[in-house]
Amino acid sequence: MGPTPAPPGEAVALLTAHTGEPTAIQLLSDRRGSRAWKIQGPKGAVALKANNPDSDSDHARDKAAEMAQEDNHLLRLTTAGALDPDYRVSAGTWDGGRWLAVNWIAGAPLWRTLALARGPEGDRTSVRPWLTGIARTFTERLARLHAADWTHADVQPTNTLVTNDGHAQIIDYALACGPGDNRHLPYRGALTHTTAPEIATAILNTPTDTHIPAQPAADIWSLGATLFWCWTGHRPVPYDDDLDRPDKLAAIAKGTTTTLRDVRPWPFPEFENTITACLAPDPADRPTAKELTAAW
Ligand SMILES: Nc1ncnc2c1ncn2[C@@H]1O[C@H](COP(=O)(O)OP(=O)(O)O)[C@@H](O)[C@H]1O
Ligand SMILES: [Mg+2]
Repeated sequence: MGPTPAPPGEAVALLTAHTGEPTAIQLLSDRRGSRAWKIQGPKGAVALKANNPDSDSDHARDKAAEMAQEDNHLLRLTTAGALDPDYRVSAGTWDGGRWLAVNWIAGAPLWRTLALARGPEGDRTSVRPWLTGIARTFTERLARLHAADWTHADVQPTNTLVTNDGHAQIIDYALACGPGDNRHLPYRGALTHTTAPEIATAILNTPTDTHIPAQPAADIWSLGATLFWCWTGHRPVPYDDDLDRPDKLAAIAKGTTTTLRDVRPWPFPEFENTITACLAPDPADRPTAKELTAAW
C-alpha cells in the first residue's frame, strides 16, 4: 500500500466555488482504474471521480474516456429531464486525464442499509413498508430514466444509495445507454452478477468491440437481482465463484434463477412476487418501471 492518492488539484481548485474551501477530503474508492473522493466544504459536498493515471496505459486511456462519456451522459440526461439539474456539478481535464464531480448524496449503500432486513430480526411489521419504500423509490428513479428512453445499464448494490428517510438514489451513469448514442466505448455489460440474461447472451455472441444497446427491461432484471441479493444475501443465479466471467454469463443466459422463497430470510410474499416478476427471463414478461412503482 502506498500513500493515499490525492484528488486532482485542478478539480479541487475549481470545485471550491461550489463547496467553499475544503474542510475534509476522503478517498471513497480506488478500483478498476478510477478513484472517487468526497470533498466537503462549508457550502456543500461533492463526489469527485478521476481516472487513475498509474493503471496500465490502455486501461488508463479507457478510464479517461469513460469519465468523459459519463459527463456526456449526465449532460444529456439532465437535458432530457431524467436527472435533477443540480446533480452534475462540473467536469474537466487534469494532467492525468479526466475528472467529474457530482452532488453528494448522503446515503448508505443498499447492501449495508438492508443488513437488518437480511436477518431474522427483520421480520417485523415496521420493516415491511420501509423495505417496499426503498424498492418503490428505486423504481421511480428508473422510471424517470426509462421515460427519457435511457437505460442505466449498471444497476447493482454499490450504485444504489439509500438516504436516512429510506429513499433510494442511483449513482454512476458511466455505462448508461441512451437515444442517439455515438459512443467510443461499446457497452459490454457491467457487474456480472446483476447482468440480465439477454445482455449475457449478447456479450457471449458478439465480438468484444460490438456495442450492446441495453434496453430498460435489462435495468428491471438488474433491479430484481439487486434487491434479491441485498435482501437474501444470495445472488439470484447460483454459480461457482471460481468460474470465469463467460461461464458465469452462460449460467445467467439460461434464464433460471434461484427460487426466492428458498433463500429469503423471512416470508414477505408480495415483495417476493414482485422481485421474481422482475427476474423473468424474457424481457417482454417483466413489468415496466412505471408499472412497478404501483406494485411495491
Ligand atoms: N453522488 C454521490 N454521492 C455519494 N457517494 C458517491 C456519489 N457518487 C459516487 N459515490 C461514491 O463513490 C463510489 C464510486 O463512484 P461510482 O460513480 O460508482 O464510480 P465507479 O463505480 O465507476 O468507481 C461509489 O461507490 C460511492 O461510494
Ligand atoms: Mg459504481
